[in-house]
Amino acid sequence: MKRRQAIQKGMLATGGLMLLRKSTTAETIQPKTNTAGFPLVISTWAPNVKANAAAWEILSKGGRALDAVEAGVRIPEADPEDSSVGYGGLPDRDGHVTLDACIMDEKGNCGSVMFLRHIMHPISVARLVMEKTPHVVLVGEGALQFALKNGFKKENLLTPESEKIWRNWLKKSQYDPMETLRHMKKPEDKRSKGGMDNHDTIGMLAIDQNGNLSGACTTSGMAFKMHGRVGDSPIIGAGLFVDNEVGAATSTGVGEEVIRICGSHTIVEAMRYGKSPQEACKIGVERMLKLRKDNIKDLQIGFLAVNKAGEIGAFSLRPGFTYAFRMGDGQDVVSEAESLLKN
Ligand code: GLY
Repeated sequence: MKRRQAIQKGMLATGGLMLLRKSTTAETIQPKTNTAGFPLVISTWAPNVKANAAAWEILSKGGRALDAVEAGVRIPEADPEDSSVGYGGLPDRDGHVTLDACIMDEKGNCGSVMFLRHIMHPISVARLVMEKTPHVVLVGEGALQFALKNGFKKENLLTPESEKIWRNWLKKSQYDPMETLRHMKKPEDKRSKGGMDNHDTIGMLAIDQNGNLSGACTTSGMAFKMHGRVGDSPIIGAGLFVDNEVGAATSTGVGEEVIRICGSHTIVEAMRYGKSPQEACKIGVERMLKLRKDNIKDLQIGFLAVNKAGEIGAFSLRPGFTYAFRMGDGQDVVSEAESLLKN
């Protein structure tokens, strides 16, 4: 419900410039105003039009896709009202906000931080891991020390609102994380059709004016997760994958399920072998359902993909997965992905 309102508000705020359209079939969505299909930016979840606007600032001036995706996802990371990314993210069961993020460019360079605390912009730390270290991943205390040495500020990321929600959850706390997920993501959950308001990672993909691709993915992960839990978002190949010859993909939803099928890499490989971005996203969701059957029927997973030509695709397990994009003339478009299950 909250998301639906956000979409409608967005439409009003832009005087109707923003379109809400439903992906109807497994067709690829074609860019309308620019035959090349780029620049282009696309993000998981409709409210991330704000993140796309920040990315577009860079893309529309001829900037690099890598700079655009970093700047874009920093918007929800700093937003205290976004309860699943960065500052204001819901904590783990012990009350700690722990963040996961990764970034990947057109040359196969990538960087990731996992289980990072106290730093508002994990995506920028991930970029520094990529650019300043011989490694791809830094975790926990090591990632924090690296960030502090590179000038990042130590901050309290638990907002009073998130703390209140966590304290309320504690009253009935369930130790099994999957049980917790099932409890929180029932279809009848009033907060959103897909029951995912507590779990909306931003994954962002962009193509710049030179036709180069990059992606970024950042999250506070599953609310009330076990301390130390890491999801798909910072795992290259699971939450994000970019291959500049083919395309890029990213995911949102229950990370454990995405990791099991190496989701984003699977989708990029499907595009490599001729599938459209939309078909490739559907293949990812179908594989997951085949593998996990009844285990995932109450959960939500969504994928976004772009190919080298600037065509986009989106597909989810259940209804309610929205996404936002800008291409061509820079108009905001929000849409709801087609889903495999119908409720
Ligand atoms: N997709 C985000 C997570 O599972 O942490």
